[in-house]
Amino acid sequence: MDLKSKEYIDKIKSLAKEKNAVIFAHYYTRPEIQEIADFIGDSLALAQQATRVQADILIMCGVHFMGETMKILCPDKKVLIPDMNAGCSLADSCKAEDLAAFKAEHPDHMVVSYVNTSADVKALTDVVVTSSNAKKIVDQLPADAKIIFGPDHNLGSYINSVTGRNMLLWNGACHVHSRFSLEALLQIKKDNPGVEVLAHPECKAPILAQSDVIGSTKALLEHTIKSPVKRFIIATESGILFEMQRACPDKEFIPVPPEVTEGVGCSCNECEYMRMNTLEKVYKCLLNEAPEMIVKKETAEKAISSIQRMLEMS
Ligand code: 13P
Ligand code: SF4
Repeated sequence: MDLKSKEYIDKIKSLAKEKNAVIFAHYYTRPEIQEIADFIGDSLALAQQATRVQADILIMCGVHFMGETMKILCPDKKVLIPDMNAGCSLADSCKAEDLAAFKAEHPDHMVVSYVNTSADVKALTDVVVTSSNAKKIVDQLPADAKIIFGPDHNLGSYINSVTGRNMLLWNGACHVHSRFSLEALLQIKKDNPGVEVLAHPECKAPILAQSDVIGSTKALLEHTIKSPVKRFIIATESGILFEMQRACPDKEFIPVPPEVTEGVGCSCNECEYMRMNTLEKVYKCLLNEAPEMIVKKETAEKAISSIQRMLEMS
């Protein structure tokens, strides 16, 4: 670790103590962000944990919708996010006005939304789900319920397949999870007999069909810890490898590379939005107490019931 990073870490720790601030980080953030975090988790665990901590300031190192969810759940706390531009391609694939129009076309349907959505979309939603609890929650809905599920089409198809439902699916996707290369995965499997393939349900169906375990980031991490297998192929954002390697230093993790489309996109499997969280930005946001996450009162009041319903049903 360079001197600058060490200085930032020391400053962040002492400021956090002085200001009674707690730092949360998603598994996809940079290793140095995960190292300074008080809590690391998947979307569900971070939301649950936020409601339990005693603090004046919550810093959400993740992406914009995670900060919004935290603010909606903890309206009396100051919620900071190191970079307001840390968005999410999946959340962006479902605009509230488009969902409102779709709902109007299907007035007899209830709406189940993935947590990767804006507060405005959550305000139009009956129940929010994460990749950790989507099956469990959909299983609890009445058998004859007509359901719109959005925005992730891959997750929705997977949940339809494991619940036997026929939910109407929004056509959204995460640009990181939908670009893993099936060809590369098949080659890595062939070159590494006996490995287990672990995939996030935001991946496309052909990748999921080749996987031994499909689950949220937390579920995949827990599987690597309890499995007797020593080598794993990982089809999700590569930030999770840091926590997997930290928890299982004697095991090996092989990331699946993305498809390379000529002239387009990134040749890595990192979420550039998650990587916008840096030590410098965490330090500055703690020092200046900005940027602060603000959610309009009327939006928050409508969105909270769909999030609370999720927490009750998890
Ligand atoms: P988790 O719910 O597994 O944390 O995933 C969130 C996410 O953004 C996946 O791309
Ligand atoms: Fe959004 Fe995909 Fe990044 Fe997750 S990995 S935050 S779904 S863009």
